[in-house]
Amino acid sequence: MDKTTFETKNTINGPMHASLRHDSAHKHVTGTAEYIDDIREPADTLHAALGMADRAHAEILSVNLDAVKAAPGVLWVMTADDIPGFNDVGSTGQHDEPLLATNKVEFHGQPIFAVIAETRDQARRAARLAKIEYRDLPHWTDIEGAVTNGAPLVVKPMTLQRGAPEVEIGKASRRLQGRIEIGGQEHFYLEGQIAMAIPGEDDDVTVWSSTQHPSEVQHMVAHVLGIPNHAVTINTRRMGGGFGGKETQGNHFACLAAVAAKKLGRAVKFRPDRDEDMAVTGKRHDFRVDYDVAFDDEGRIHAVNATYAARCGWCADLSGPVTDRALFHADSSYFYPHVHLTSQPLKTHTVSNTAFRGFGGPQGMLGAERIIEEIAYALGKDPLEIRKLNFYGQPGSGRTTTPYHQEVEDNVIARVVEELERSSDYQARRKAIIAFNENSPVIRKGIALTPVKFGISFTMTAYNQAGALVHIYQDGSIHLNHGGTEMGQGLYVKVAQVVADAFNVDIERVKITATTTAKVPNTSATAASSGSDLNGMAAYDAARQIRERLIDFAMRQWDVPREEVEFLPNRVRVGTEVVPFDTLVRAAYYDRVQLSAAGFYKTPKIHWDREAGRGRPFYYYAYGAACSEVSIDTLTGEYMVDRTDILHDVGRSLNPAIDIGQIEGGFVQGMGWLTTEELWWDDKGRLRTHAPSTYKIPLASDRPKVFNVKLAEWSENAEPTIGRSKAVGEPPFMLAISVLEAISMAVASIADYRECPRLDPPATPERVLMAVERLKAL
Ligand code: MTE
Ligand code: MOS
Repeated sequence: MDKTTFETKNTINGPMHASLRHDSAHKHVTGTAEYIDDIREPADTLHAALGMADRAHAEILSVNLDAVKAAPGVLWVMTADDIPGFNDVGSTGQHDEPLLATNKVEFHGQPIFAVIAETRDQARRAARLAKIEYRDLPHWTDIEGAVTNGAPLVVKPMTLQRGAPEVEIGKASRRLQGRIEIGGQEHFYLEGQIAMAIPGEDDDVTVWSSTQHPSEVQHMVAHVLGIPNHAVTINTRRMGGGFGGKETQGNHFACLAAVAAKKLGRAVKFRPDRDEDMAVTGKRHDFRVDYDVAFDDEGRIHAVNATYAARCGWCADLSGPVTDRALFHADSSYFYPHVHLTSQPLKTHTVSNTAFRGFGGPQGMLGAERIIEEIAYALGKDPLEIRKLNFYGQPGSGRTTTPYHQEVEDNVIARVVEELERSSDYQARRKAIIAFNENSPVIRKGIALTPVKFGISFTMTAYNQAGALVHIYQDGSIHLNHGGTEMGQGLYVKVAQVVADAFNVDIERVKITATTTAKVPNTSATAASSGSDLNGMAAYDAARQIRERLIDFAMRQWDVPREEVEFLPNRVRVGTEVVPFDTLVRAAYYDRVQLSAAGFYKTPKIHWDREAGRGRPFYYYAYGAACSEVSIDTLTGEYMVDRTDILHDVGRSLNPAIDIGQIEGGFVQGMGWLTTEELWWDDKGRLRTHAPSTYKIPLASDRPKVFNVKLAEWSENAEPTIGRSKAVGEPPFMLAISVLEAISMAVASIADYRECPRLDPPATPERVLMAVERLKAL
């Protein structure tokens, strides 16, 4: 690391909890951070492009590639028949995802062949010259179409049940039924999908892949080539954003590049352009939630019965765990005494939807927050009052059991919400807003304070493991490697802080190295926000072993008891002597002490029985709350966020600067999902919003005009996680629900708050305007 610019704060807390800047921040902004497309290519590198289907669902009658093969610069055209191993990149072992289509296509844009040419431009031009004959089959692209056509489910649905919701709903004093339709979302990582493969001797191939899951890419490449895992090495230094979109979606590009590289004996790079990337890769699942709720005159929920239907796309991919996580968050922060929840993972003729920050959790929670909003409007009360009434209780309250029968033991939601309510001056501002709206014919305002409770762990128990490798060289410099990947979230610096802390040395001494399957094997995707929990612990385990050996050595060498060996900043005190860290290391080397260790960690306590719908899928919960105020223009539907206040719980932060960045970024990305980002497929099944020209992500100018973000400084993880920290990657995304509900309140003012506007996301200006017009017509 660059010593002159890397600010070190070896505070009394040690490096583990310091606000160090992102290790690559200066490289990101000066263009010196190396992404895959920046790596110097071997001289004879070839380039690939996809041949994509232009039907949503059809039988392939014939494929004529003569013109493609004859095009300038083309070396090879690869079809399914050329795949030496298995034509399958399904990530969950369902074998329903061919790498290249064979006799049928199931979405518009599905890859049928790949062209390998001397230049990228030649490959792209040639790919358009194929002549393909199809016989069209019936297709549907959305949830409504799937339901009316009796679409199959891509995976077995899940049901969560507790108590007797049917009985309770039958006898409740109040009942409401409704539906919310929730839009999907494009990841819009700044660096698109990309892979470069270089063939080696024998079966060997090395692939640089922009992936959150190098081990899975390794397994897929081996599977497709029909070779052992040991012949494949995947390297990932960093991604220019992943957001879940590179958990499985990088597999195709890596596999195609690897097959071509082995066939042609030359390096092959595969970099789709933005339009292709958007047309062929999966996105956030749209959901349709149908709810039936029993409650009382106070607003206390008695029972919830809800179905969560999802647009999964043409194959399973991660739709099983995504729809499961939606159900795990269908309670948001609320206790449902009686509950029945079912998922409906529907097949559609669209890209196969995949992981996206929150992994179904945001859609699950949005259903719950709509229920709260509906109850509030039905009773003429502030939604915040209904929220507080329904929060999970403290242990012993009888209100701590989730629909999946896990007990909520670490609940701080009431405290977080109460503190934010005070610090944001919510009550006074809400009164002022209602008064403002009475006298403002065109501009209307709204405010909402919404909670977040997010379960941390992979629900697939086996994924909750990690490995790390730490070496100390003779000069006392430290080499760190682990299975986690860096996508901008700051995982690398956090894990480096853990190692620096273990030896009490400056962070500059720790070299962060690129993730590679050759150093740490069998790793999990960097996902489910668990990167620092898992890899931080694994790295700590490795560092701890070396530290123990150094202590043993010092005790022997100086003949002192254990208590007399102490790691001071960059020095070690042994008895009355203080020696520099590197001196101790060199002496240990000469005494033949092993200065390298592999670390391992697996999350304790968790288990999950999907069939029974019972278990403890989550090690702990992360909490937060946001209060947003918005203004809408009732003549145009335009809006802006005037102010947002956030209080978020990251336990004892590993790096407050990084964590605040994650909260701000997650919130704004969530805001984009719920407001301006709209995916639109036409009747032919073509995605028409496939570039920034037609798909609107938030701009810097869309951020809240006043944006106050605070960490809950008093929080500590109740479980012994690394430094008692909590995961931060995904939970803040859902803080953005406050913006949608604030817009909804501004709309509701048109009809004097008598009716719940049922504003479905994305609340684009058009939709806001239509909602305003609907209420005006009442
Ligand atoms: N932050 C940045 N800058 N870029 C990203 O791609 N991905 C998010 C989140 N924050 C992402 C990000 C997602 S989807 C997850 S699961 C976590 O980071 C993964 O990293 P972590 O487990 O280390 O928090
Ligand atoms: Mo994040 S959606 O778990 O990659």
